Amino acid sequence: MADEKVLIGIIGGSGLYHIDNLTFVKHVNPETPWGFPSSPITIATTPSGTHVAFLARHGQGHTILPSAVPARANIAALKSLGVRTIIAFSAVGSLREEISPGSFALPSQIIDRTKGVRPASFFEGTSIVAHAMFGDPFSGKLVNWLEGKVKKALEAEGRGVQLFTGKTIVCMEGPQFSTRAESIMYRQWGGDLINMSVLPEAKLAREAELSYALIATATDYDSWRPQSEAVTAAEVFKTLKANADTSRLVAATIIEDLHAAITGDEASIFLEEAGTMKFSIMP
Ligand code: ADE
Repeated sequence: MADEKVLIGIIGGSGLYHIDNLTFVKHVNPETPWGFPSSPITIATTPSGTHVAFLARHGQGHTILPSAVPARANIAALKSLGVRTIIAFSAVGSLREEISPGSFALPSQIIDRTKGVRPASFFEGTSIVAHAMFGDPFSGKLVNWLEGKVKKALEAEGRGVQLFTGKTIVCMEGPQFSTRAESIMYRQWGGDLINMSVLPEAKLAREAELSYALIATATDYDSWRPQSEAVTAAEVFKTLKANADTSRLVAATIIEDLHAAITGDEASIFLEEAGTMKFSIMP
């Protein structure tokens, strides 16, 4: 029996503007108190009837710069559809030799190098003072669950794409890439990956009590390698298409299992964040 609830949200990053093997149901464009999402959200179903919501973070034609992504509207819009779990994809730079372009990673930590210009809380402008727990910025149980599934999907693809876990991602403001000195400093800080998009998205998902994980797809070596050219947009673009093809395959492979897990015996895995905000409000 088809379940028409939309429990799973997929956020696509650069290069990932749709998912394969799904039947289009409709576009929705919910207006939230924080405005409209980056693009209309596609509701689609898998062959067995699992509904999923897909949102292109930078807009369908990649027209929105990282600093201008309406992250509050994106998270609020997905939540308003009933979504409980968000799997977000993002192109990232690699700060480690072993994470070669084309590799995938499920990071577990974030270093915030955004500049405070992005609205990062649903409570801004209200009289509520809230401090969400964020020591573990991704949903640990969801990430653990994804590890096996993503690995299997990558093995099935047969191109030898490696999956890394337990990595730290630096989120920078952009839109310019880092200097060589910054790139080297991020490595010294313990950064393994770098992007411009995981924040404030992950913070807002936490405030919205949604489980959230990032599938990071490496496109380049940023600018820390002394003998190599510093990263350019053209270099990122080179790997983007192959990474997006693999991301689509991964997404299509995991959606039904994810839905079965959420609605079945493993529901608790995806409810780690439910109810947590009541401990975050200052009395
Ligand atoms: N996204 C992809 N590659 C990146 C890099 N090197 N720095 C920041 N964001 C990125």
